[in-house]
Amino acid sequence: MQEYPFSKGRTSVARVVNDWYVVATSSELGKAPLRTTVYGIPYVLFRDSVGVAGALLDRCPHRNAPLSLGVVKQSVLECSYHGWQFDTTGRCVHVPAVSGSPGVKKGRVESFSLHEEDGFIWVYATPDTEPTREVFRFPLLREKKYTTIRATLDVHGSIHATAENALDVPHTAYLHGGLFRRSDGRKNEIEVKVNRLHDRVEAEYIGEPRPKGIAGKILSPGGGVVSHFDRFILPSIVQVEYHLGGSSHLCITAALTPVEDFRTRIFALMSFRTPLPDRLLALLLKPIIMRIFRQDEDMLRAQTETIQTFGGEQFQSTSADVLGPDILRLLRHAERGERIDDKPQEKESFRLFL
Ligand code: FES
Ligand SMILES: [Fe+2]
Repeated sequence: MQEYPFSKGRTSVARVVNDWYVVATSSELGKAPLRTTVYGIPYVLFRDSVGVAGALLDRCPHRNAPLSLGVVKQSVLECSYHGWQFDTTGRCVHVPAVSGSPGVKKGRVESFSLHEEDGFIWVYATPDTEPTREVFRFPLLREKKYTTIRATLDVHGSIHATAENALDVPHTAYLHGGLFRRSDGRKNEIEVKVNRLHDRVEAEYIGEPRPKGIAGKILSPGGGVVSHFDRFILPSIVQVEYHLGGSSHLCITAALTPVEDFRTRIFALMSFRTPLPDRLLALLLKPIIMRIFRQDEDMLRAQTETIQTFGGEQFQSTSADVLGPDILRLLRHAERGERIDDKPQEKESFRLFL
């Protein structure tokens, strides 16, 4: 029998569960319980009477009702079905129908380590485990000369596709043509250095003139040379950093959360320092950034739908796909719990036309 040429293949979904993910902003979690998911597994978040947050599996151990349908009373979350009550560590502290009866064995629900800092709630994605790493710390938040804008966005794509999209340079001249880079005109020969470490990969672009699109002109009206880094840090941090024309510095950092295998929530911070007044800059840049985001969102959705239609991917990469293959390699190793050796002495250097 002849094999159909478009047989089902693999996808770049890697589930890294022994690490931290942002699951909500601090302001999203008020007095009511909040349901969220990581890799499709539902969590319920709630705060005790002094505001300390806890994260439990969103499944009551009694009869599997979602605990997120319950109510917070003082420091406990009460299930809406039979009223079992749980504290933020997952311990069942009260079973109403047998309250006071001697020898009643109370259950417990799986709980997750939680860390709240800088307006974000992080959860360690393996239950009942002591984390082995600390959460990522967002840079520049405490620097007086910098302004930071935050945004939470959802896209229809895996962590790998979303991270690659965020850190991929060649698409910017086409998908976002004219907004930052342009596809027409003379290309510049740029040197790229790639640095691979055990938990991250970084690309440095050397010698690029200020991009010719609108955003480049706003950020650096005087022109000049750009110094630019793209970084991916396990399990899901993407960072794009630009020094433009001497005094302007822009650093976009995003924590990506795999809400489901093919749905990613982006918790993004854009920190910047430019010669322009902050409010003017924000006013000018916001519509451009939102347009760029919508173009990426549409493409990620179309890419994911195509992958799902074919039941798998076909990726043919060249040296211009600078970080995508390394991001997948890091994710696959982390999924298997393997550590990659640092090789800072083996920086790879090559040239691209951008
Ligand atoms: S299902 Fe939660 S108390 Fe019964
Ligand atoms: Fe893009």
